[in-house]
Amino acid sequence: MTAATEGQDDGDDAPVRHLLDVDDLDADELTALLDAAAAFGRSRDPPPSRALVGRSVVLLFEQPSTRTRVSFERAVTDLGGDTVFMGPGETQLSRGEPLRDTARCLAGYTDAIVARVEDHESLTELATYADVPVVNALSDRAHPCQTLADLLTVREVAGDLDGATAAWVGDGNNVARSFALGCAATGVDLTVATPPEHGLDDATLDRAAALGDAPTVTHDPETAVAGADVVYTDAWVSMNHSDRAERLATFETGGFQVDASLLPADAAFMHCLPAHRGAEVTDAVVESDRSVVWRQAENRRHAQTALLERLLAADARR
Ligand code: CP
Repeated sequence: MTAATEGQDDGDDAPVRHLLDVDDLDADELTALLDAAAAFGRSRDPPPSRALVGRSVVLLFEQPSTRTRVSFERAVTDLGGDTVFMGPGETQLSRGEPLRDTARCLAGYTDAIVARVEDHESLTELATYADVPVVNALSDRAHPCQTLADLLTVREVAGDLDGATAAWVGDGNNVARSFALGCAATGVDLTVATPPEHGLDDATLDRAAALGDAPTVTHDPETAVAGADVVYTDAWVSMNHSDRAERLATFETGGFQVDASLLPADAAFMHCLPAHRGAEVTDAVVESDRSVVWRQAENRRHAQTALLERLLAADARR
């Protein structure tokens, strides 16, 4: 990996690699990582790599998680390492210890920090003060590990990423932002349909354009899904939104629910989960044979196995 955010460097070695968002990987690294993840996914056996034997990964989570926590724990175990889970309220952070102090201490005990944070700046601070790789396990701004699994899933559905067509329908949130970067980097033709006030920010569109093609932006879900290989949605309300009722009304009246009439007959349905049946998607679509959400969720494990193997191989100082 050559393009990751650089953290503290002790002067004798290559800079530590971090994954704070998708564009910390260059296109070649992303493709190689997806190839490795696909190989892990094809095998029911533990991966041949034992890259984490004798190594430990701390999962520092400020918010609840099902998929991210368990898929990371399984990925580390499969690579021969062990994990320490620190959930919400379980560290001295909750009593006011500075994050930079926590970062330096955790780096002394472990070989990587996988962090789920409310404020993306916390990840930047962790990466600045920890001299081990820091991985974004979701922030208010980005969800790159989700995108790795998403791209793997799109590739399984469409056969190839370059030229595949994807539609994002709903909120221009953290998952959408990272997905837009991932699509741009891999040649996926993405159209994003959001209400005007909940669209992707200009910075994300600019970053996507720097990687490849920025997504097409529309406010009409039907336009977005026409001809799409995959239709992807996520929650309309996340933990940091206080305007819940207003948001639900906006998305519902705008026709942003993915139901059987919106999902094209030959398109696959994607959702990062948890899904809110009856809101952004109907129960019938989640349970339909067009739904690839369980495969998408499983791909978190394979993608993160490949990611950790590469990140820790690059950080071979320990
Ligand atoms: N998709 C996702 O990040 O799921 P969890 O919140 O359960 O980790």
